[in-house]
Amino acid sequence: MKKNILKIIKTKNKRPLVCLTAYSKPIAKILDKYCDIVLVGDSLATAMYGMKNTHNVTLETMIQHGVSVSSNLSKALCIIDMPTNTYRNIREAKKNALLLVRKTKCDGVKMECNGKNFKIIESVVKLGIPVMGHIGFTPQHYNKFRLSGSLKRDRSKLLNEAKKNEKAGVFSIVVECVTNIAAKEITQSLKIPTIGIGASIHCDGQILVTDDMLGLSGFYPRFVKKFVKLNNIIKKGVQKYNKAVLSRKFPSKINTF
Ligand code: KIV
Repeated sequence: MKKNILKIIKTKNKRPLVCLTAYSKPIAKILDKYCDIVLVGDSLATAMYGMKNTHNVTLETMIQHGVSVSSNLSKALCIIDMPTNTYRNIREAKKNALLLVRKTKCDGVKMECNGKNFKIIESVVKLGIPVMGHIGFTPQHYNKFRLSGSLKRDRSKLLNEAKKNEKAGVFSIVVECVTNIAAKEITQSLKIPTIGIGASIHCDGQILVTDDMLGLSGFYPRFVKKFVKLNNIIKKGVQKYNKAVLSRKFPSKINTF
């Protein structure tokens, strides 16, 4: 059965939410059974397209990958990132969020908080589109990873942003790269689930970039655990193929018409 937003919210204080990213059909099909939420993250810029950061991803790219993921999930919720410069004001945000949802049939969108855009986030929620918030390290606004929440005044700012996101109506919030004290404080102060990435065990759920946790991306900061080393497995397969072609062992009779 398909999950829904209410069920996701109701997991708070009951069980952790399992979330991962997907950009394509084969990964979406695998994740569907094991995830509550599958995020088509704009991290596809770096993970898939080899860009330096997420700043130049277009709405068209998100729609294309969004369709591929959304149409291949039957259980997990599909949330799609609104890319940089697609929600700078209320009019732009409403137009682009509607387009994203209509074209991909996703279950909601994610919007990064810049510390001021609460009214913009609220305007999308008011359209009836479920919005996932994102605070802490928000890659659309920075170039380099940064940890926040070490200082008390940092934590107050984070908590304030989290509460304002909740007030704006987000159904959950990604908390990225913050100290465990900050994550605990935020999680305990909100009624909606927090989804951590580099934000400790105190969050209500966890998310990682799938390419990172599969050991495929070459990007492994401390908060990423490689659950499998897919790069080695793929390398072995490619080496075997290379040998087989060079030695004319492939294609063999069975692969030949
Ligand atoms: O773009 C993305 O994949 C994300 C997750 C890392 C939360 O925002």
